[in-house]
Amino acid sequence: MPIPATSHIWFNGKLVPWEKATVHVLAHALHYGSSVFEGLRAYATPGAVAIFRLRDHTRRLFDSAKIYRIQIPFTPAQIDAACRDVVSSNGLSNGAYIRPVAFRGYGEIGVAPKIEPPIDVAVAAWEWGKYLGKESEAEGVDVCVSSWQRMAPNTLPAMAKAAGNYLSSQLISLEAKRLGFAEGIGLATDGTVSEGAGENLFLVKDGVLLTPALAHSVLGGITRDTVMKLAAELQIEVRECAVPRELLYLADELFFTGTAAEVTPIRSVDRIQVGAGRRGPVTEKLQQAFFGLFDGRTEDRWGWLDDVDMRRTRAAAGG
Ligand SMILES: Cc1ncc(COP(=O)(O)O)c(C=O)c1O
Repeated sequence: MPIPATSHIWFNGKLVPWEKATVHVLAHALHYGSSVFEGLRAYATPGAVAIFRLRDHTRRLFDSAKIYRIQIPFTPAQIDAACRDVVSSNGLSNGAYIRPVAFRGYGEIGVAPKIEPPIDVAVAAWEWGKYLGKESEAEGVDVCVSSWQRMAPNTLPAMAKAAGNYLSSQLISLEAKRLGFAEGIGLATDGTVSEGAGENLFLVKDGVLLTPALAHSVLGGITRDTVMKLAAELQIEVRECAVPRELLYLADELFFTGTAAEVTPIRSVDRIQVGAGRRGPVTEKLQQAFFGLFDGRTEDRWGWLDDVDMRRTRAAAGG
């Protein structure tokens, strides 16, 4: 589906018309993958449109930039404000997907140029539905283990949400889709399970929640962290550990987490049925707790919801 354009994008400190937020073809990031980004969701909660874990996403953006020595020329508070601005100025009252990106822009060409190219920063937002299909939330998806492995430690840092890492994700996801699966799972170079192309992975085995640890080439997902905290509330034991591939087939339940995928059950791996072949009870409980944050059934004890004042910044964009 093409991106449903909105009216404004925040670009280097200003709201500019959507079609004017463009970059030069010789921008460093386009050639060398030198960009870091985030993906957030804003939800229409009963009280307000609220951005989920805004400050945590902004912190991860700055962490990713730090690894690549990208100096973002704005403060975290300015990026938080930009995220709010693109939701309110575009009138995204049904909720939104928000995409901040910081990248080495147009300057000198070369992998490590003598003169640092300018760091450009943009934040866009648009309306977005279910990433893995509408029915997937209840019915689950069919996935495969990819023939492509995730990058080895000390090659590309998996904890950075950097554009270059998504070449690995593209190989995994394109292969899965070509073979008729909804998504692909990558193994780490030691052969243990890492994560989906754009999602973290959880298994339920004998009532315990298992997930690969950060050292297994996974992104430190914010939804992953959310689910771990909600599981603790529900007194479900969580273990971060090495997961052998075959445990995917033997799990009672399996699900993906991610800002895009939210909490999506997996019903088969490599055409082998997982558990009962549909969403299991632990997954459903965690889904209820997760989606409950946005419809008021789950109390936001952590201060994860950041309300957007939908009137405040519309004037700033002149709209
Ligand atoms: C490779 C990868 N793993 C995991 C995730 C899930 O992370 P989060 O829950 O922060 O969206 C994402 C999505 O951002 C991702 O791209």
